[in-house]
Amino acid sequence: MNSQTEPRCASAAVPLEIAAARADFPILRTRIHGKPLIYLDNAATTQKPEAVIEAEAEYYRCINANIHRGVHALSQRATDAYEGARHKVRRFINAGADAEIIFVRGTTEAINLVAQGFAQPRLRAGDEIVVSALEHHSNIVPWQMACRSTGAVLRVAPVDDTGAFDLDAFAALLNGRTRLVAVTHLSNALGTIAPVRRIVELAHAHDVPVLLDGAQAVTHLPVDVRALDCDFYAFSAHKLYGPTGIGVLYGKTRHLEEITPCQGGGDMIRSVSFETTEFNELPCRLEAGTPHIAGAIALGAALDYVSAIGLDRIAAHEHALLRYATQAVADIPGLTVVGTAADKAGILSFTLDDIHPHDIGTILDDCGVAIRAGHHCAMPLMSRLGLAGTARASFALYNTIEDIDGLVAGIRRVRAMFWS
Ligand code: ALA
Repeated sequence: MNSQTEPRCASAAVPLEIAAARADFPILRTRIHGKPLIYLDNAATTQKPEAVIEAEAEYYRCINANIHRGVHALSQRATDAYEGARHKVRRFINAGADAEIIFVRGTTEAINLVAQGFAQPRLRAGDEIVVSALEHHSNIVPWQMACRSTGAVLRVAPVDDTGAFDLDAFAALLNGRTRLVAVTHLSNALGTIAPVRRIVELAHAHDVPVLLDGAQAVTHLPVDVRALDCDFYAFSAHKLYGPTGIGVLYGKTRHLEEITPCQGGGDMIRSVSFETTEFNELPCRLEAGTPHIAGAIALGAALDYVSAIGLDRIAAHEHALLRYATQAVADIPGLTVVGTAADKAGILSFTLDDIHPHDIGTILDDCGVAIRAGHHCAMPLMSRLGLAGTARASFALYNTIEDIDGLVAGIRRVRAMFWS
């Protein structure tokens, strides 16, 4: 069966069995300040199902050995499990080959690898990199560093007041000096979904490669890198129900082959002498040293888990939660939803009068409700919107309508405390 015919998602028409899904996540039984945990900080990191926790433990319990090096059976088992995880990632995002999947520490390392190993050696003074106003710092700072060391210039595609991506303004930024476009697929701060298919088409019309930061999108939307035709796609396991410390850089083979390895060491070489080194082929060439073997295997388990439920169903469930939450907060006096683009997913950012978001977060925490408060590692976006920060609730497959009701009750309590 080829990747086009493999079933990647169950049908969105069949609703998610939420109680069964919640039972898979042991941490959801935790009590916070004596109250049941309502976990709405999923954009920061998702909780882990038992299957993921067990996959990581099982690796250490039963097959712990180093990979690619050993002639013994355990090493072979560990290698098979690690490479099996790579194959699962390939299927999950519909990449063309396993060697197009590079395991890294996370989205940040993936973007830095492209910035330092792919962009920087090609950049000349006056060249341009285009990002958008929606970006997380991890999709700004690596490009600033590459620009600083080469004399290249960072250009920024704007958003409108709703947080929607301005495609016309983006198109107008592309020119003969543009060397790379790096944009988020889904904003971590607002939930805006960027029109990435059109972004890629417009950039490719100028022969400009595109990196998509998929850190948030990959958990909320089915992602098909070949349909998107993006050149690079970066994401982290820990926002996708997997462990921390492991993530993925997808790249088209011809681009990955052009990356100058940023790290030298074991496994990334074919031969070494004191005079010279011949690098290994992909993907090992870009994975120097012993990788996070257990993490990769557990990421594979996370992909099995979400694929069995179906990302279409997860997306439909989260969309229903977002709609319910948006309506539920609409009549709270003084509350303003920040980020109202027509195309958004999974995230509800808001301000409440002039109450500091950290105060909102602290009072909600006292109610057992975990949200994130602040600039969300997107300070330029906050400046664009004229805000120091927001309070942000972000949804996952295990969240319920009751969780939203708990959030709304908590917000009303915040208001009552400040205005009584
Ligand atoms: N990037 C993560 C967030 O948005 C940490 O919370």
